Amino acid sequence: MRYIVTGGAGFIGSNLAERLARDGHDVVIVDDLSSGRRENIEHLLIHPRVTFVEGSVTDLPLLVDACAGADGIFHQAAVASVPRSVANPLETNEVNVTGTLNVLWAAKECGVPAVVAASTSAIYGDDPVFPKHETMAPRPLSPYAVSKLAGEHYGTVFADLYGIRTAFLRYFNVFGPRQDPNSEYAAVIPKFITRMLEDKPPIIYGDGEQTRDFIFVADVVQANIRAMESEASGIFNIAGGSRISLNQLAGSLSAITGIHHRPVYELPRPGDVRDSLADITRARDAFGFSPAARLKRGSARQWPGSGTAAGNRFPGQGPGFGHSAGRSRAAPSPGVVSAGTYIPSSRSKEFEVQDVCPDWLHRRCPARVMTEMHHGRTATSSWWRTRKTLQP
Ligand SMILES: NC(=O)c1ccc[n+]([C@@H]2O[C@H](COP(=O)([O-])OP(=O)(O)OC[C@H]3O[C@@H](n4cnc5c(N)ncnc54)[C@H](O)[C@@H]3O)[C@@H](O)[C@H]2O)c1
Repeated sequence: MRYIVTGGAGFIGSNLAERLARDGHDVVIVDDLSSGRRENIEHLLIHPRVTFVEGSVTDLPLLVDACAGADGIFHQAAVASVPRSVANPLETNEVNVTGTLNVLWAAKECGVPAVVAASTSAIYGDDPVFPKHETMAPRPLSPYAVSKLAGEHYGTVFADLYGIRTAFLRYFNVFGPRQDPNSEYAAVIPKFITRMLEDKPPIIYGDGEQTRDFIFVADVVQANIRAMESEASGIFNIAGGSRISLNQLAGSLSAITGIHHRPVYELPRPGDVRDSLADITRARDAFGFSPAARLKRGSARQWPGSGTAAGNRFPGQGPGFGHSAGRSRAAPSPGVVSAGTYIPSSRSKEFEVQDVCPDWLHRRCPARVMTEMHHGRTATSSWWRTRKTLQP
């Protein structure tokens, strides 16, 4: 198959493009590199099946050119930040609304049968009802959420008017390798990890009791591919299906990194939602979505042997368990470790994320820790010592 991935040089898009290429598809990445990075896809571009078109989704002729002969479009490109949308709503509207409309129109012009697009849980806003279900009335609190909702509406209308199958996936809080920790608008997990690894306290906006439903990026990739390969059309929540407070998250990351700092609390940010938890039944029923990893509630205090590799192993795991970049690894056995780590299910073998950042030792420590979190292994303390030793 020939697939277009808009935003394919970004965090989620590059993980998706990588998986598609690995599965033997032709992939055309369209990205203007505004928040994505060429280094996220450099390893893919040596492959003859992967093409990179540097340009914007606001450029309709460029999109129509790129989409010729495509079997499907994965639309990930966006201004993907609530604070940035508050600072500049016109830019967000141009990229997220006009850009999405362009993608749908290019699909129509080129006869592309299906578009699977990234939407967001931010659309639910501060509705106090939990878990969030797709039938709930939208209550967007930011220009970002409004722009994503407008994209969904265009998707529904294009499905009705032009017969293009459109699936809009409302991602909750995604984390994983290649998430940019240095961006002013970085998401909370890489931000916390980066601060901790710099021996600084994590910063929490608000009282830290706000909750998030986190999902590992490989599960988001799985959702996109299953949605594309199914006949699913409409709007779908994509999340882990459980929530954790930011205070608990900081405690868990503290335990994983072995670096303990009391968080610094600052004023809540405008536009941020208070709580987040998804009902993922619709995606499960429509295309068999099943997140393989879940973030368990926890805090450092609940963690036996906090901060040590020994205290963080799966029950029954030997000391040699785990993986390192470039080496093969044993699949983790399912089981509950202790609070604050990811619990792989029997499907965890689907995950192939360990080699995505061969340069992790020097530059991608958050990606490395996030991968460790997912696999429930925390040799991070010794890794951190190694890193410190290697640094000048
Ligand atoms: N990361 C999350 O937790 C999360 C949650 C909900 C929704 N989403 C959505 O998922 C998608 C991917 O987000 P991400 O976290 O990977 O963000 P990202 O910023 O890493 O990726 C977005 C990509 O889109 C590209 N882009 C931006 N404007 C463009 C334009 N005009 N033309 C072409 N490319 C453009 C950027 O360069 C970047 O590569 C976005 O649509 C975002 O709104 C993400």
